[in-house]
Amino acid sequence: MKHNKIIRNQPVLKDVFKDDFYIGVALNVNQIYDKEPNAIALVQRHFNSIVPENILKWEEVHPEPNKYNFDPVDRFVAFGEKHKMHIIGHTLVWFHQTPDWVFQDESGKPLDREALLKRMQEHIYTVMGRYKGRIHGWDVVNEAIADDGGFRKCKWLDIIGEDYVVKAYEYARAADPGAQLYYNEYDFEKQAKCEGVIRLIRDLQSKGVRIDGVGIQGHWFLDYPRIEEIETYILALSKLGVKLMVTELDVGVLPFYPVDSKAVALSSFDPETQKKYNPYTDGLPDSVQKDLAKRYAELFSLFHKHRDKFSRITFWAVHDGQSWRSYLPISGRTDYPMLFDRHCKPKPAFEAVIKIAQGEESLINSIDN
Ligand code: G3I
Repeated sequence: MKHNKIIRNQPVLKDVFKDDFYIGVALNVNQIYDKEPNAIALVQRHFNSIVPENILKWEEVHPEPNKYNFDPVDRFVAFGEKHKMHIIGHTLVWFHQTPDWVFQDESGKPLDREALLKRMQEHIYTVMGRYKGRIHGWDVVNEAIADDGGFRKCKWLDIIGEDYVVKAYEYARAADPGAQLYYNEYDFEKQAKCEGVIRLIRDLQSKGVRIDGVGIQGHWFLDYPRIEEIETYILALSKLGVKLMVTELDVGVLPFYPVDSKAVALSSFDPETQKKYNPYTDGLPDSVQKDLAKRYAELFSLFHKHRDKFSRITFWAVHDGQSWRSYLPISGRTDYPMLFDRHCKPKPAFEAVIKIAQGEESLINSIDN
């Protein structure tokens, strides 16, 4: 009851931004199975869009050739419909979290182009088809462009060729003509990569492929990328004539460590290095809470300034305890990237975002250290 009393008095994120953009959040499997009532209470109060963090990725929803795992997705979609939310599907074609069998025949030999296209089509038709008219928008292809602006090297590219992206959107359009189709990416501050995404989208558009939006993931840090850099690529991407969305927002407060496909255990480092990469084991100092509040205020001030370009701002976790930032790229860390803490209580960053929505831009400079 105590928690619900606190939550009842909180200003409501989706309401303060109701004239600007959807406020979304990623749900993990425990929340989808209602094992985190406090987190779900926050989701119902503050968010009007939801996306599954993992359960709609190929390895989770289609783990074996003739096996689909739809129960968690059915629950996820039913939750979204019950609360009249804008429901997002993430993600159909990605180089990561896709089982090896997808690219092989029964004897383990690589498939040829036609066979892999057929498998991609069957996956998209089956998964999108099941939720036709119910999942409103899809991250059809995720992270297909490399830092140099070319296509990311992956099995989809090796076997099918560069048109695997076009094919994915054609299959998605056929599977659910009413769904919005997005392209989702990260690290747009790498100019060559941003230009590569722009080339890709323009190429898709020139081929008559429907793209309704580009997702900027938004896995950022307290001081990287700079607001000016983000604004530069918001302006560049908006020239594509599609909606923009921040699809996976979180602000890590821990030191950067290069992301690799496999997590590195914190315990594998010497004690001094562990302290360096995981400095806040006893809670987040007030000074860093204020830095986080200031950073979120600056980010939402930017989103609000360009609200005509954005359809959605989605957080990639409900609370700090859920965030991937504590277990990737280094497992065993304690990060604090969200607006709500590990007890689902609002942090100073929550108040700062609310104040930005209420027009108190001056707040940004008043957040002293
Ligand atoms: O489900 C298994 C569980 O059975 C097992 O016991 C456990 C320990 O091995 O692993 C669980 O799977 C984990 C999965 O999350 C579900 O929790 C995987 O190991 C772990 O790698 C996976 O991490 C996800 C990551 O994508 C995979 O790359 C994160 O939760 C998820 O937040 C993250 O999200 C991605 C977006 O989809 C795309 N953009 C980047 C973003 C961050 O990497």
